[in-house]
Parts: sequence; C-alpha cells; structure tokens
Amino acid sequence: MATNLPVEVIKKQDWLEPIADRLQPTIAGALGPDGSIGTKVADILHGTWLGHPLHVVLTDVPIGSWTAAAVLDLLEEKTGSRAIGRGADAAIALGLVGAAGAAITGLADWSKIGGGQPRRIGLAHGLLNATATACYVMSLCLRRAHSRSAGRRLALFGLMVSSVAAYLGGHLVFKEKIGVDHTADYSPPKDFVPVLAEVELRENELRRVEANGMPVLLVRRGQRIYAIAETCAHLGGPLSEGKLEDATVRCPWHGSRFSLDDGRVLEGPSVHMQPVLEVRVCDGQIEVRRSNS
Ligand code: FES
Repeated sequence: MATNLPVEVIKKQDWLEPIADRLQPTIAGALGPDGSIGTKVADILHGTWLGHPLHVVLTDVPIGSWTAAAVLDLLEEKTGSRAIGRGADAAIALGLVGAAGAAITGLADWSKIGGGQPRRIGLAHGLLNATATACYVMSLCLRRAHSRSAGRRLALFGLMVSSVAAYLGGHLVFKEKIGVDHTADYSPPKDFVPVLAEVELRENELRRVEANGMPVLLVRRGQRIYAIAETCAHLGGPLSEGKLEDATVRCPWHGSRFSLDDGRVLEGPSVHMQPVLEVRVCDGQIEVRRSNS
C-alpha cells in the first residue's frame, strides 16, 4: 500500500503547534475587521473577487520559473553558455517575485484553517517554501559573486524542498479539501420537493431543512422565502448557526457573508458562491428545487 511519507512525518512534528498557536491568531487578527490590514485586503488575498483561491494561481509562478531555471542551469553547465546562464538567473528572479505573492496569499488562507492536522501541514508547507525561497535568494547572490556552480547546486536543493512543499499543498487541497467548494458534494433536487410546513417557518429565523439529503437554509423575510445551501462553501460551516444581517447570512466559523438573494460572496474568506434554490409554497408546504437561473 502506498505511504504518504511527507504527511506522516509532519504529523509527528509536535513542535509546530506552539508556532501555529502564536502565528495564526496574529495573522487572523490583522486580517479581521479591526485589524491593521482589514477585511477588504484579506478578500483580495483570498481571491473572493476572482471566485477562485488566489494562492493556487500564484504558486504556479515559482514552481514553473524554478523548474525552468533547473533546465537552463543544466544546459549552462553542459554548454558553458553565459546567455543561458542569464536566462536561468532571470527565471529564478521571476520565481522569487511569484513566491512573495504566494507566501502572502497562503498566509491569509492558512489563518482561516482551524486546528488539527490541516493547520500543521499548512504551516510545514509554508516553512518549506520559505526555506526554498531562501535557497534561491542565496543562489542568486552566489551567481552574482561568480560562484555559479555553487549557486546552481543550491538552486537544485531549493527545487527539491519546494517540490516537497508542493506535495503538501496538494495534500491540503485534495485530501483535506482546503480551498475546494464544500457545497459541491450536494446536488439540489431537479423537481420541487416539500421540506417544511409553511407555518413552521418564523420571520427572520435561520432554519435548516433537508431536500433529498442536501442541507438547505430557509429564511422568511416579509413575503419572501429564501433557500440557499446550508453548508458553507468555504470549509463547511453550518450557516443555520450563523447570523442574519438584512438579506444576507454570515457564517459562524470564519465570517463569510452571502447574499440570500443570489448566493454571492459579499465578504470572504469564501471564494465560492452558495447555491441558491427556487422556492414555492404548495398546499401549505414549502418546496424547493434547483434554481435554473
Ligand atoms: S466555513 Fe469558513 S466562512 Fe464558513
């Protein structure tokens, strides 16, 4: 059976916990509503405006650039071409710019991960990437100081470290589901299904019901009844335990705010919209189905 060695090793690194305990609240506080950075910048870093996590977009820059640099380094070594060497140096510099962006956006995302293994693996992922970045900075310095061969070796080591970090990043997404849409596992019913007697839904109540196994949030405001997915798209928080703010709902876990009208993300960290369901009242029963709009 295949072993997940890097993850198994990280799971045993208890010394990471005190670092995470200190670092995470500091970053989360700075990105919070009363923090020095604030929620608007936080939403830019999360990628709320993009509808996609920004961090995973930016990580392609250092990975691609540094892989290209490794190939160019090899060619320089074989041919002695200075032009190829300059290309490798430029690729490393470009990777460093991308790494800075990836680090900032990654820290913002990591600050919203709860405790446990994902937080620890996320921290290890960040520390390894910081190590790789430091290797590339030193590699560039060595190259400038005419120690190109030492610079190439250090760059190769940096690439190996960043590859392990990338592996952990993949684990966070594919295994721990960090950054994925947590409503994607549910599909609203195609046809109307009854979910609650109309008289049971009180004004401004956040009411959780189920429609063919899908958790749905019902809210009555005046004449209108809203229905959206109850599972928060960010990390699966229960929106029925959140807060109603006019025609929006705020998630109780990390504060994402969604429009009840169309499911839009009005405040992050979620980058994914909440699915909205169509509602009707038939024979005293509230019925919902997949929205076709
Ligand atoms: S679970 Fe994170 S904002 Fe809802």
